[in-house]
Amino acid sequence: MTERETPLIDIQHLEKSFVHRGQQLTVLKDLNVRIYPGDMMAIMGSSGAGKSTLLQVMGTLDAPTEGKMYFGGEDIFLRSAAGLARFRNQQIGFVFQFHHLLPEFTALENVMMPGLIGRMSRRRAEERAQELLESVGLKARVHHQPGELSGGEQQRVAIARALFKKPRLLLADEPTGNLDLKTGAGIHAILRDLNEKTGVTVIVVTHDPRLAETMPIRVLVDQGQLIPQKPGDERLAGRLPEDVMNRRPQDPGHQRLVDALREEGPKLETKDGGEDRASSGAGIS
Ligand SMILES: Nc1ncnc2c1ncn2[C@@H]1O[C@H](COP(=O)(O)OP(=O)(O)OP(=O)(O)O)[C@@H](O)[C@H]1O
Ligand SMILES: [Mg+2]
Repeated sequence: MTERETPLIDIQHLEKSFVHRGQQLTVLKDLNVRIYPGDMMAIMGSSGAGKSTLLQVMGTLDAPTEGKMYFGGEDIFLRSAAGLARFRNQQIGFVFQFHHLLPEFTALENVMMPGLIGRMSRRRAEERAQELLESVGLKARVHHQPGELSGGEQQRVAIARALFKKPRLLLADEPTGNLDLKTGAGIHAILRDLNEKTGVTVIVVTHDPRLAETMPIRVLVDQGQLIPQKPGDERLAGRLPEDVMNRRPQDPGHQRLVDALREEGPKLETKDGGEDRASSGAGIS
């Protein structure tokens, strides 16, 4: 990253509020962040903190209440709804907690789908889908339907599909939320590998500090803002405003998580009911 490089995403004074039963609920307030091409960032924060809300704005699925988002220097929400849809379709790949694969199609057909919808020839779409499935380690599963794949394999198909159009940005909202720790770690490893090999910018929301640990850049959604997970984390210089760089998380949910890790060490229950030991709980402050 150089000083002069244009951020892929530059969010300035973002506020996002919802009106619910006549009451205004402000979820994000004066949030500022710059994300540079090729960044790989994990976003954490307690339930309800606003992580998905932020990803929706970054993905242009939902407009800010106040503030600006520049994408590659362009004030992106000035576009029409149709212009935004086109932009999203070309530049952004989404992966969600629930993979949303089409059950009656094979892995290969699911990954090809964005190409077929975009009127790409079947042969070219198939070649690209095959290549992507190989890159996520699923060469031997291309003709399986989602119901014939494990949870981790399904999520890898979803990642391959999200990358079909060579997006500049991959947004993943708890892609490992339904997976055990080991499988989740495999998904994170694939995301890191794709980021390194293709340069795609990756932003991933996770609840699990041990998975966040494997990401080069880590931030928390806390009190409506993005703050460093570790105060003063210099990897965030140029990405977060100076006045928040040394802020400590106030989020009680996050603090509980940190305390639990300190007390129990890295031993935590995984979602499949088993127990797992992370190699290290270090680095969580
Ligand atoms: N469309 C909406 N209308 C009203 N309130 C909303 C809406 N979307 C989200 N909220 C509220 O905004 C807050 C943040 O929600 P969000 O889904 O961003 O949280 P989150 O950090 O992703 O939580 P989780 O970890 O549970 O997924 C929540 O209190 C939620 O109830
Ligand atoms: Mg969420």
